[in-house]
Amino acid sequence: MLPEVTATRYVTPLREGGSLPGIVEADDLGTYVMKFTGAGQGRKSLVAEVVCGRLAQRLGLRVPELVGIHLDPVVGLGEPDEEVQALLRASGGLNLGMDYLPGSLGFDPAGFGADPVLAGRVVWFDALIGNVDRSWRNPNMLVWHGDLWLIDHGASMIWHHNWPTAHSASAKPYDASDHALAPFSPDLAAAEQELAPKVTGDLLAEVVADVPDVWLADEPGFDGPDAVRRAYVEVLQERAASVGGRIVLGERRESRSRPPEWLRVWVEGKAAR
Ligand SMILES: Nc1ncnc2c1ncn2[C@@H]1O[C@H](COP(=O)(O)OP(=O)(O)OP(=O)(O)O)[C@@H](O)[C@H]1O
Ligand SMILES: [Mg+2]
Repeated sequence: MLPEVTATRYVTPLREGGSLPGIVEADDLGTYVMKFTGAGQGRKSLVAEVVCGRLAQRLGLRVPELVGIHLDPVVGLGEPDEEVQALLRASGGLNLGMDYLPGSLGFDPAGFGADPVLAGRVVWFDALIGNVDRSWRNPNMLVWHGDLWLIDHGASMIWHHNWPTAHSASAKPYDASDHALAPFSPDLAAAEQELAPKVTGDLLAEVVADVPDVWLADEPGFDGPDAVRRAYVEVLQERAASVGGRIVLGERRESRSRPPEWLRVWVEGKAAR
């Protein structure tokens, strides 16, 4: 089960996140990045965070600790922003928290490399969960104390938005051409050899057991949360067995935008001085 804490203070919104995550303090004295059950992305993005985040941890990848956070919306009464107020009002009950990594920096390929083994592990893992949200435009990785940490798995496992077609959708190839770690020669063969055998039915069952029942209840076509859990296990297990052969690493589709002319002139002038 996911550890559960209670929010005691809403500190500030994290403006860079599309789902308007916020920083909160909780009764265990921890500080968390909180993803709200009332956000537009819906509770399935919280399920994806738990399934993929816990799976990554079990495979030896770094993901900050995940907790369930009970929220009483009165905690945010002092928050002046109306958008945040509305989000808090819509999110009473259980939300998702990720341990806040103070002083972490967003991954920048110009300043932080990754060796081929680590790059291979991350790309293979993202192929497994169908993560389209780790591109060089939006890497969703943090560097903290010199290590690479994975965050933001809410948009993964797109197939869980349409269970009747999930098995065929999950058999699709994974295009890693725009992946933030594609330039670091990911060793996919080594990653598959190491990680695929670890993704067993038992491991997946333990991982999906961490998803709170309230986020799995009333899923159309399923007879309760445990039946939904079994569906996640089946699709991920099938995918683990075959996805390695379907990872595409081609040319980047777009190049980074060029710096503006004034910046180029300024940088060159500075270098000449
Ligand atoms: N555990 C953490 N510790 C420190 N900073 C974090 C943590 N998690 C997220 N952040 C910061 O908050 C930002 C938004 O988080 P995240 O990407 O999870 O939100 P999101 O709403 O799903 O974002 P988007 O959909 O825009 O990628 C991150 O880019 C990062 O700067
Ligand atoms: Mg993000």
